[in-house]
Amino acid sequence: MTADLIDGRKIAAKVRDEVRAGVQELKGKTGLAPKLGVVMVGNNPASDVYVKTKEKAARSVGIETRTVRLGADVSEKEVTSLLDCLNEDDSIHGVLVQLPLPDHIDPLKVASAVDPMKDVDGLHPDNVGLLLIGAPRFVPCTPAGIQRMLLESGVTTAGKHVVICGRSLIVGRPLAALMMQKHSEANATVTVAHTGTKNLAGVTKQADILVAAIDQPGGINADMVKPGAVVIDVGVHRMEDGTRENGYRLVGDVDFEGAKGRASAISPVPGGVGPMTVAMLLVNTLKAANMATTKEEDVLREPVDIELLPVS
Ligand code: GUN
Repeated sequence: MTADLIDGRKIAAKVRDEVRAGVQELKGKTGLAPKLGVVMVGNNPASDVYVKTKEKAARSVGIETRTVRLGADVSEKEVTSLLDCLNEDDSIHGVLVQLPLPDHIDPLKVASAVDPMKDVDGLHPDNVGLLLIGAPRFVPCTPAGIQRMLLESGVTTAGKHVVICGRSLIVGRPLAALMMQKHSEANATVTVAHTGTKNLAGVTKQADILVAAIDQPGGINADMVKPGAVVIDVGVHRMEDGTRENGYRLVGDVDFEGAKGRASAISPVPGGVGPMTVAMLLVNTLKAANMATTKEEDVLREPVDIELLPVS
């Protein structure tokens, strides 16, 4: 078996087209363009690339950006004070702090300092809670991107066993909450495997949909994949490669060459989850701008009656 490729670049381009149209509609109604505030602390080269990628993607759909770069030795208080300013600034609709942060800064304190109505990363405790109770406001970008990739690829999740390897606050936990929601675009049986899991391969081999977010290059090999499973690779690692002009190549958490011989569909690295994460950031920023400019109350969604939904 050779797996179908889940083309994150192509799906992300479709999402960007939708956001571009939404931005035009908002501009037509209000005369305003959505604006994203980005905070970067320190000079992690990978983060620098991500931030530039986000800025470029935003520009391509008509979203404005304001990036503030702070030195690696800045205090936690200086970061939260900057966030207070961005929260107060009505011209900025979405705010994100690029991760990882230097060790002396607590990412939870920083996430909690972002205005929950501007929290386009979905990491503020209010937004984490709303997702968990089934009334999401901002879904974290990587989980939202994975859900969209699956939908666009015709992979249904309802009734499937989704095994997520990794319990991070930015991927594993919110993806678990998203995949177990009681509606037809989720409704999966979810297992979260992590560093405390015994016999990881025994667990991953039960997955209809296997999501690798373990931060270990090639840590998920072909033997850990059930034949016919769908494999989503969240990892991004730079491996030295003297044959490349930039001196490195990107690999994921999955042994791609091995796994593609067993999976029915697989997302590559690069060109899989990465572009989807950026595209969903644009979706969230447009949503934040729409909420701010229409001054609509952020009403909780009515509970969904599963019996009424077309669950296949
Ligand atoms: N670093 C890696 N992924 C992400 C993300 O989705 N958001 C932020 N803010 N930082 C990241």
